Amino acid sequence: MADSLAVQHIGCLVTNDPASGEGPLGVRHDVDLVVDDGRVVAVQPAGTALADRALDAGGGCVLPGFVDSHTHLVFAGDRAEEFTARMAGRAYDGGGIRVTTAATRAADDETLYRLGTARLAEAHHGGTTTVEIKTGYGLDVATESRLLGIAARLTDEVTTLGAHLVPAEYAGRADDYVALVCAEMIPRAAGLARWVDAFCEAGAFSAEQCRAVLLAGRAHGLGLRLHGNQLGLGPGVRLAVELGCASVDHCTHLADADIDALAGSDTVATFLPATDFSTRQPYPPARRVIDAGATVALASNCNPGSSYTTSMAFCIALAVREMGMTAEEAIAASTAGGAMALRRTDIGRLAPGCRADLQLLDAPSYHHLAYRPGIALVRATLVGGRLVG
Ligand code: NIG
Repeated sequence: MADSLAVQHIGCLVTNDPASGEGPLGVRHDVDLVVDDGRVVAVQPAGTALADRALDAGGGCVLPGFVDSHTHLVFAGDRAEEFTARMAGRAYDGGGIRVTTAATRAADDETLYRLGTARLAEAHHGGTTTVEIKTGYGLDVATESRLLGIAARLTDEVTTLGAHLVPAEYAGRADDYVALVCAEMIPRAAGLARWVDAFCEAGAFSAEQCRAVLLAGRAHGLGLRLHGNQLGLGPGVRLAVELGCASVDHCTHLADADIDALAGSDTVATFLPATDFSTRQPYPPARRVIDAGATVALASNCNPGSSYTTSMAFCIALAVREMGMTAEEAIAASTAGGAMALRRTDIGRLAPGCRADLQLLDAPSYHHLAYRPGIALVRATLVGGRLVG
């Protein structure tokens, strides 16, 4: 049965379609947005749209839902003590992944699903309409398989991340663990995951180990993504570009050669500034990356260790305040940029034909997302034209 919706009296509509509105965000003023069967069909003057259902925007701002292209939403346990120790001066080194792995292995499926569902609801309330979810807190074949199944109940954008850290039982035998990831974990991910990822960093996995994991994923039909250049300079960004990864995530420490590589590629540089906030790292050199011509995204990296937030608005505020991004760049990076990092064209924009994934702000413009940090500005979040938050 046909189902149409009119979002009426929008004061400021961000379409992300420069051909249909002002500036890089394709902004329209005083319009109605018409949705049919979950897709955007038209934008027309305010007060003219009729449909089966109506949502009154009351002059507020409507923009595409956030596309959070990097999360670790399914886990058990708590690492508040690690955060507190960090604020007292301890450095972040990723070792706490093993703490979360122990708690996650001990949790049953329904508990993990309930925890993931609650975090997804929190993300929806913050304006997020698509989340990518990585495994990576199982680190054994059985638990990684369980996490894949649970993540697939929460999103279509599932990533297998067996190569997150070498588990304690493989200490000193990283190559053996990589062989297990390639031979046992990745084949089980086919049909549940869309992506394969690895943590390329001193103390995690070397470039050659990551290459083996990503190529195994590719052989099983998975798209490639990589964690790179989080804690220091390293080979991650250049490996990601060489292998044609859809995205390389973190990009906190970049050499000129990394920026040149990104600029000459279609690999998206995904910044995770809430991580740099929470681990007291420098922020990524976003200005240099953008000015060089690379495509960028912003994502939350929600996880219990380095970034326990689902708030994309917080990431936008950091990007504008700390990384020299304009409000327009930050909004684009957290919507259309996230969609590009997931190689999606049906989300991240509000143009005819796109999925009606949108957020309505209790604010007159998108500038308020950075201008009013910490304030819950999202009045409604819709996925496919249906209220989710
Ligand atoms: O992206 N860098 C690797 N993985 C996560 C951190 C996970 C954790 O500390 O639990 C990240 O920051």
